[in-house]
Parts: sequence; C-alpha cells; structure tokens
Amino acid sequence: MARITASVYTSHVPAIGAALDLGKDKEPYWKNVFDGYEYSKQWMKDNKPDVVFLVYNDHATAFSLDMIPTFAIGTAPGFPIADEGWGPRPVPPVVGHPELAAHIAQSVIQQDFDLTIVNKMPVDHGLTVPLSLMCGQPPANDFHWPSPVIPFAVNVVQYPVPSGARCFALGQAIRKAVESYDEDLNVHIWGTGGMSHQLQGPRAGLINREWDNAWLDQMIADPVACSKVPHIDYVREAGSEGIELVMWLIARGAMQDVADSARSVSVKHRFYHVPASNTAVGHVILENA
Ligand code: DHB
Ligand code: FE
Repeated sequence: MARITASVYTSHVPAIGAALDLGKDKEPYWKNVFDGYEYSKQWMKDNKPDVVFLVYNDHATAFSLDMIPTFAIGTAPGFPIADEGWGPRPVPPVVGHPELAAHIAQSVIQQDFDLTIVNKMPVDHGLTVPLSLMCGQPPANDFHWPSPVIPFAVNVVQYPVPSGARCFALGQAIRKAVESYDEDLNVHIWGTGGMSHQLQGPRAGLINREWDNAWLDQMIADPVACSKVPHIDYVREAGSEGIELVMWLIARGAMQDVADSARSVSVKHRFYHVPASNTAVGHVILENA
C-alpha cells in the first residue's frame, strides 16, 4: 500500500523564485536563505518520494475572486507554470499523479470533506517556489521535477478561510486515503506558505520572530494544541498573510504520531530566517520515526 513517510514545511516567498531565476542566489542577502535548504536538497535526493502531495495556496492566479474553492485537489496529468504578470517561471511543468489524486479525492470526500476536483489548473509561486527550494533549479526545457506532484490548493486569500482544526482533521483523512491506495508508493506531504508576514495596510512588513518560533515548537511537539490556535491569533501575531500557516497543519495531521500516540516523528531539519522579501522564512522536515 502507499504510505506517507515524511512531511516538509516551507515558506513560498515569490522573490525566492525570482532570485533563483535571475541567478541572484549567491548574493549575500539570498545566500543566507538558500543555505538553509542545502540539507533539504540532499535529503530529497536520498529520500526521493514517488509522489509529493503539495498543499499550497493559489494567489488569485488559477482562481480569481469569481470562484473560490476552499479545498481543491489537482487530478490532471500535468499542470502548467502560471504567468503571474512577468511571464511563467523558467521551470519545468509539473507532472501530476491522476490515479492517486482520484483515489484521494474519492476517499477524502467519502470521509466528509467536500473537495473541489480540478482537472485543469496553472500553478503559481505557492507551488513552484517550494519545489525550487527542495529540488534546486532544473532547466525548463530538458528536465523535469524529480517526482510527480499532486497540487492541493487551500483558500487562505479570501475570507472565510478554513480553521487550523479543519486543516488538521483533513490531514488525518488524507493519511487514511493514501494508506488505502493499493500500490506501494512512498508519498511525502508538504505544507507551504507562512511564516509571519503582512503585505498590506498600516502593518505591512510585520514579522514576529518570537511568535513564529513558538508556533514551530508547538506545531512539532503538540500539533493538537497548535491546531486549536484561532484565526485571530494568526492575524494579530503573524500578520494578515501569516494565516497561510494553517496549511502546514494539513501536512502535520497526516503524520503517523497523530493517528497513533505510540508513534513519534523525528525532526530531520529546522531552519528559520528573517527577512526574505517581506516575510519570515520557516522550514521543517519531519519523518515518521
Ligand atoms: C510575499 C510573500 C508571499 O507569501 C506572497 O504570496 C507574496 C508576496 C512577499 O514577501 O512579498
Ligand atoms: Fe503567499
């Protein structure tokens, strides 16, 4: 059967993609960010997943304000790189895994989560920047990402957005869905976005290092308590875009220790850096022990 063996958490700052695409990653400002992912790129090579289930948010790219699914699963064979206003990033298109995605949709909907099925969808920096950080920068034309990806888009842009508790429970349903798939596949689940940042209004530029690190401690060690953090705390403490962090709870909920308290997770890597563009960068890798 398929299994989720590890979870990856990372911010998705668009300027990180631009820094890579423009060859600025060796400049001191950016090198401090990319150095935090050196371990991770080697870890990806050593633990190459058969499929990445990638939880991210679309930034009014595929979904405008015309149509806003709360949870959307990408079931297509492939996903083109979005043009976010300055041309698509020069990275390979994303290859999907329609069979596993359709199975997860079936199982998770039967577990009473109402997913939107998406058969056609460009993917923006929310998805491609985490791939670049974890896999390096494959040339757009003659290569492909190391693993197929199932994009899973969460609305954290337009209120009302789902609660941390809902996301955490959804992660548990996704784990069950994966474990009922009848083929031996090593699946990683990624939660992306965050950490503290606010891009608008009088508090634009807000970053809260202390709150971010306390949240990381709790997300790792006591995810049930972390899932109960209310929206208002994210917005007050981590800024309006800090709410992207609820997506990390989908990945955390899919780990084995949540289903079985006799099991534990091991922290393979943890990194925090301020600033990158307007945000704090957080990154964690957990493996099922
Ligand atoms: C920035 C960060 C984001 O997460 C995002 O989606 C857009 C912009 C920023 O730091 O500028
Ligand atoms: Fe974002």
